[in-house]
Amino acid sequence: MNVTLRQLKIFEAVARHLNFTKAAEELHLTQPAVSMQIKQLEQAIELPLFDQVGKRISLTEAGEELQRYSRQISTQLLEAEQVIAELKGIRRGRLNITVASTANYFVPRLWATFRMQHPGVMVSLNVTNREGLIRALAENEADLVIMGQPPEDMDLVAESFMPNPLVVIAPPSHPLCDARHIPLQRMKAETFLVREQGSGTRSLMERVFAEKGLEPSTPIEMSSTEAIKQGVEAGLGLALLSVHTLEMELALKRLVVLDVEGFPVLRDWYIVHRAGKRLSAVAQAFRDFMLQKTTDIVHVPEV
Ligand code: PGA
Repeated sequence: MNVTLRQLKIFEAVARHLNFTKAAEELHLTQPAVSMQIKQLEQAIELPLFDQVGKRISLTEAGEELQRYSRQISTQLLEAEQVIAELKGIRRGRLNITVASTANYFVPRLWATFRMQHPGVMVSLNVTNREGLIRALAENEADLVIMGQPPEDMDLVAESFMPNPLVVIAPPSHPLCDARHIPLQRMKAETFLVREQGSGTRSLMERVFAEKGLEPSTPIEMSSTEAIKQGVEAGLGLALLSVHTLEMELALKRLVVLDVEGFPVLRDWYIVHRAGKRLSAVAQAFRDFMLQKTTDIVHVPEV
């Protein structure tokens, strides 16, 4: 029987959802790609795996048998991964991660999932702004750094792992909330709550505004994203923030994303280390985990 692990993984998802579209979404594939793989699998085993009546699909007897085996195979693969990890020394490893204060909103969630697979691993998580991240890289203090925009003048390995849209936010009572295509120039009349010097979010904001020859009038400086969100909610002014810091406020409609020209600004999150640095087995495993799993675990709010 000429069956690949990839085909079994796709089959397992379709069998679980009994729905090709949902399986395709979960696997980040197109629906025709999923159907094609299932067709090839059926050709390989020479029996149909699904029955279709109208729009509903169900497993055939062969499908049910294959589902049982594909579950066993996934469990065995997971076990093999754990055993190999132990051999590589991940089991009792230690990891120093330094993350941007804006990444702090999702990194603990990723770490929690990683730790379920490697319960013996210890972490020290240092949260700082962009200036602090660059210092940690320069002084080789961190195994891995998670940041918005890696500096170009350092010799680094930087890999992007998730989109990072930045938006302008306002309280729901703000007169611009229902406006469409607000010109960036209109922002000149607004008070902005800005992060401290040294913050990546702040320097991005300054760059976007400066490109249009704008300087927000009377900015109010606050060194914490939480304080900025509270300030915007209280009507002190507007702010520019990564959507990852806003998940709860947007869901509860305590803050609103304004439709401003040029926004959202689409950036990426990066996992970074110095070029030439030898990553420990744990650092390597966490880096691989982040590159493969982040977008399954962290939801990027729609804006
Ligand atoms: P910061 O993070 O605003 O907390 O510095 C964003 C970044 O790394 O660019």
